[in-house]
Amino acid sequence: MSTGACPIDHGAAAAGGCPVSPRASAFDPFGAEYQADPPAAVRWSRDEEPVFYSPSLGYWVVTRYDDVKAVFRDNITFSPSIALEKITPVSAEATATLERYGYAMNRTLVNEDEPEHMPRRRLLMDPFTPQRLVHHEPMVRRLAREYVDRFVDAGKADLVDEMLWEVPLTVALHFLGVPEEDMATLRKYSIAHTVNTWGRPSPEEQVTVAENVGKFWQYAGTVLDKLRKDPSGHGWIPYSIRAQREHPEVITDSYLHSIMMAGIVAAHETTANAAANAIKLLLENREVWEEICADPGLIPHAVEECLRHSGSVAAWRRLVTRDTTVGGVPVPRGAKLLIVNSSANRDERHFDNADEVDIRRDNATDHLTFGYGSHQCMGKNLARMELQVFLEELTRRLPHLELVPDQEFTYVPNTSFRGPEHLWVQWDPAANPERADPTIREAQRPVRIGEPSKKGISRTVTVVSVDRAADDVVEVTLAAANGKPLPRWTPGAHVDLELGDVSRQYSLCGDPSTPDTYRIAVLRDPDSRGGSRYVHENLRPGTTLPLRGPRNHFRLDPTARHYVFVAGGIGITPIIAMADDVRASGGSYELHYCGRDTSAMALLDRCRRDHGERLHVHSSAAGTRLDVTALLANPAEGTQIYACGPERLLDALAGASAHWPEDALHVEHFTTTRQVLDPAVEHAFDVDLTDSGLTVRVAADQTVLAALRAAGIDVPSDCEEGLCGTCEAAVADGEVDHRDVVLTRSERAANTKMMTCCSRACGDRISLRL
Ligand code: FES
Repeated sequence: MSTGACPIDHGAAAAGGCPVSPRASAFDPFGAEYQADPPAAVRWSRDEEPVFYSPSLGYWVVTRYDDVKAVFRDNITFSPSIALEKITPVSAEATATLERYGYAMNRTLVNEDEPEHMPRRRLLMDPFTPQRLVHHEPMVRRLAREYVDRFVDAGKADLVDEMLWEVPLTVALHFLGVPEEDMATLRKYSIAHTVNTWGRPSPEEQVTVAENVGKFWQYAGTVLDKLRKDPSGHGWIPYSIRAQREHPEVITDSYLHSIMMAGIVAAHETTANAAANAIKLLLENREVWEEICADPGLIPHAVEECLRHSGSVAAWRRLVTRDTTVGGVPVPRGAKLLIVNSSANRDERHFDNADEVDIRRDNATDHLTFGYGSHQCMGKNLARMELQVFLEELTRRLPHLELVPDQEFTYVPNTSFRGPEHLWVQWDPAANPERADPTIREAQRPVRIGEPSKKGISRTVTVVSVDRAADDVVEVTLAAANGKPLPRWTPGAHVDLELGDVSRQYSLCGDPSTPDTYRIAVLRDPDSRGGSRYVHENLRPGTTLPLRGPRNHFRLDPTARHYVFVAGGIGITPIIAMADDVRASGGSYELHYCGRDTSAMALLDRCRRDHGERLHVHSSAAGTRLDVTALLANPAEGTQIYACGPERLLDALAGASAHWPEDALHVEHFTTTRQVLDPAVEHAFDVDLTDSGLTVRVAADQTVLAALRAAGIDVPSDCEEGLCGTCEAAVADGEVDHRDVVLTRSERAANTKMMTCCSRACGDRISLRL
């Protein structure tokens, strides 16, 4: 089937032949390969031809992360108007059938252009904000629990048929505010709708499908009429009917009818499919399943990684409205794009080891399963909530669940929505934990609404050894409790250790090229409130404890011509790793190590052994204190100073380097002086979001990050006190009041980025590229 002529002028291109490559011309999104695993089926494209024309589909196909995101970002050049267009032309008979039912599916939030779209989106989005969604959690949990009750003692179930289809459907109906009746019929209608829009039904099937779609349309209309009579209830549709009364010119009757039907599909099928994909993926990766059974705090991260790896929306479509380029490839006005977001989510250029399931992946939330920008899925946080609850209920009540072996997974053939039609699982009911402890059925954890916090990502480590490193200093070696290699790290990185009731940060001081272990050195602080005392008194070989990170807020600039390293006391830990790194790469450096007495200076033997004459030891007891003024008397172009130690030393270095080039001095910060926001001192301001088309008000006592999250905008965060740089956003306009310790002076002056967890607007308005 060809739905579009090859756009290439063959006459002009005759010398080189048709430039559509053999693989591009063989591409078939309805073929077995794409249907089984879309990102794997277009791996060749990501690697060799990331934007190509598919003659059989009549679409340009876009497969790399940056290109897909760029298309999502620009909804003017890349119109969403064809997002719901039937990918296969409808037969005359099917069209007649749809007409018979008065089917008049119109534009909805998914496929409308500006300037209509954003005013509607703004009017209709309040029920999707986290503060509203939280009220739905008890309903989601109750439903999930009741459905698990039905099969928990059976020992075998098809999770799709027995839970994952109906619960999201019921949640969708509750959320929309429509009755629960006619569920079985609705299920049939929903499947029909998917095939109608994204599938390739045969001419005979088209008529059956059209019958069901027509009935679905009529059903939506009947419910809408019912709700119109009394729109005072909860739910998105009653809310929208009320909004229509105030803004009839923005929200029309036909619009309401269309979003009613589209809303059911959008809220239901995508979540049902995503849940089935996630459980299948986790059970196929048994170790990961067992990890989240053991530590349910990892579930929000597992949800995000499953959405990235095997999301339920494989691809979207866009119409090109002007001659342009995508990924450097010229694409003409009028071209249709198939943007394969599932492929973008497996792009190695953006996600390391993209085919692996890594629930501690740093950037999993960058996935494009929900789209991006002004058309991003409004229901994303409802979906996240449902997935968390499902995983929590199943891992707690049926941790011994496993896939029925050798089952064949089938998918409804279509380009965009994706999930197995059946998911058979089995377990031994006699081993159900709630048989021994009935309270397990009721246990629950608070659900996280929105994207997961990086703070929650931890792994269990075992203490390998604890060795004396100097007076009151021990060196601790740690390994992953599961025996696997620990994540890679770079000089300057630190980890967070959970030590009893407190969490403390320690720089890594071992060898980054030995991934099996981490080493830290800990000084016993006489005023310790638990951290260093706990390490000295409780850590023994074999002790296990949670570790988060590593993270690096103190990175080496690899371009420096010479490095001056200055360590004070236990501040040697990040500095020695940096000095080792520069030595190994043959760079030029000097290492100044200051301490009270050599007996109290940890790792001194190692410094002497490895850094020889580059090392300068400054001991107060020996009268060889460091003269920082003399050390930094002569600024040197290309020299970078890296320092870690007591504040007194860092202040002295800052003073002594004031005449050096900007940004020459780098110091390690573990804490900021950031205070609680005082509304008497702070002012409120607006943040315009250029990619999302929204304006968010930031209250005087609120951070930009909190305001963005309340508006449903995902921004990753970690420290949330201006230390790590995770929450960075690009600034399009407006002056920033920088309050972080991440950006250098020149970066602040450039005013092109800000840390949203702490920095604010100087004036009444700021504009961010989000
Ligand atoms: Fe760490 Fe904002 S989250 S700087």
